[in-house]
Amino acid sequence: MTPDAALKIEWEPKIIAFCCQYCAYSAADMAGSMRLQYPTDVEIVLIPCTGRFDVILALKAFENGADGVYVAGCLEGNCHFLDGNIRARKRVGMLKGELAAIGFGPERVEMYNLSASQGPKFAEIAREFTERIAGLGPSPIKRPADAGNPGES
Ligand code: FES
Repeated sequence: MTPDAALKIEWEPKIIAFCCQYCAYSAADMAGSMRLQYPTDVEIVLIPCTGRFDVILALKAFENGADGVYVAGCLEGNCHFLDGNIRARKRVGMLKGELAAIGFGPERVEMYNLSASQGPKFAEIAREFTERIAGLGPSPIKRPADAGNPGES
């Protein structure tokens, strides 16, 4: 077996989801309460509001072995800090542009909005984003040694 073949067999995408503590995290909680299935490769990082999301957080996640990063916040107009989700969407857009410029793959970053009652949508987002990243393959900055065991670094 070639090293590339071994990498493909063992690799599972590692996803970091930055979720605001109000709507997005509540939706994740609801998905869990409803026992909805979504990939276990999605690691939720709780943030007070998506307005706290920073490009550096995403870059650090990639540096630590993430294959994809998404930000999930309240619906537009419903942010508990007024416009945090609007600012987050702009930052995600800016990050996509920067990632495209260096050939990293802007599809590896996304922004979602959902309400606290949208547990099924949370699970759907997690599944769709994981499928997207699985289709893209491992992060180009991931070392082959990391790919087989993405939880360790
Ligand atoms: Fe949820 Fe601001 S509190 S996005």
